Amino acid sequence: MPVHNRIAAFHAEMTAWRRDFHAHPELAFQEERTSRIVAEKLKAFGVDEVHTGIAKTGVVGVIRGARPGARAIGLRADMDALPIREETGLPYASTRPGVMHACGHDGHTAMLLGAAKYLAETRNFAGTVYVIFQPAEEMLGGAKVMIDEGLFERFPVEHVFGLHNWPRAPFGLFLWRNGPVMAAVAGIDIVIRGKGAHGAMPNLGIDPVLAAAHVITAVQGIVSRNLEPTDAGVVSITWLEGGDAHNVIPETVRLRGTARWFTPEAGELIERRLAETARHVAAAFGATAEVTFERAYPATVNDPHATVLAREAAAAVQGEARVMEAPRPSMGGEDFAFMLEKVPGSYLLLGTARTEDDPVVHHPKYDFNDEALPIGASWYATLAERILA
Ligand code: NI
Repeated sequence: MPVHNRIAAFHAEMTAWRRDFHAHPELAFQEERTSRIVAEKLKAFGVDEVHTGIAKTGVVGVIRGARPGARAIGLRADMDALPIREETGLPYASTRPGVMHACGHDGHTAMLLGAAKYLAETRNFAGTVYVIFQPAEEMLGGAKVMIDEGLFERFPVEHVFGLHNWPRAPFGLFLWRNGPVMAAVAGIDIVIRGKGAHGAMPNLGIDPVLAAAHVITAVQGIVSRNLEPTDAGVVSITWLEGGDAHNVIPETVRLRGTARWFTPEAGELIERRLAETARHVAAAFGATAEVTFERAYPATVNDPHATVLAREAAAAVQGEARVMEAPRPSMGGEDFAFMLEKVPGSYLLLGTARTEDDPVVHHPKYDFNDEALPIGASWYATLAERILA
């Protein structure tokens, strides 16, 4: 069973939805228009129940199978856009300056809508399918807010599934992995305080710029010297701010950055060593360092059994030859992680490359590849039909 014929039949319709979302991108928790259209379409498809206003703009559709059954699964898509100025020049480019669907969440939403339309029409399964449209994947953890508002108590599922389009992988190739697939994410904020002085008389002050330079260098030792060598982690200082004039030693310097890891031990270690290193190195120069380590997303960890189900559904749609184990996890973050902490599930990548140098996600020239819409929609639908057979 390749792409469902019925889903292929509304490829043009899904493309129109996707391009409409693309032209009207909305940032985290502001997906009012997108959310309204999703809810309207679900109702028009004859979905049994449509619940709105979960985590502000989140929507859940309830689809019951033609055959009775107590089992249920969740299928999830994200709806938010990014604060990027679009440079595609496409006829359906963003109409909102500085906001852009640069990660393909417009495509994910259209795919899941396509699956919902098909499932509401055919209902060839026993039990319940919940289609979950979540806000704020990119920055503010919309999945966590939905969970905190009782997502899985109101809509209990045995498994939850999601996917992300991947322009760097060959078109139509599904990539799976057991265990961690995306990294845990934390924001780093370090304020180094010294004592301001004339730039010509450094001996009269405490130079936070010099201390900051040493802190930046020293924290590179955490991954290379402290982390278990076969574990993985990243500490990147990405922001350096301080000073107002050529000849003035400032009072403070601010550093910001990001940390990534997969295992809880690595996260604990990076957090602890970052604070120790920054404080002690700053102290060596007479300065102080105030370190904030803000955990944003946990690691996205696939359940092995759910991953088998996800792979089987992918193979049913695309054939075994186009389902592959991803060679390594990604250091990117993904807030589907919060759902996978609560419910065993699986998150796959779907290759969408048009050419070898197709722009990557988060690039101002990126555009979701509409040819992938029926593949993703068929994967979602196949999960429902196979797991709830
Ligand atoms: Ni994304």
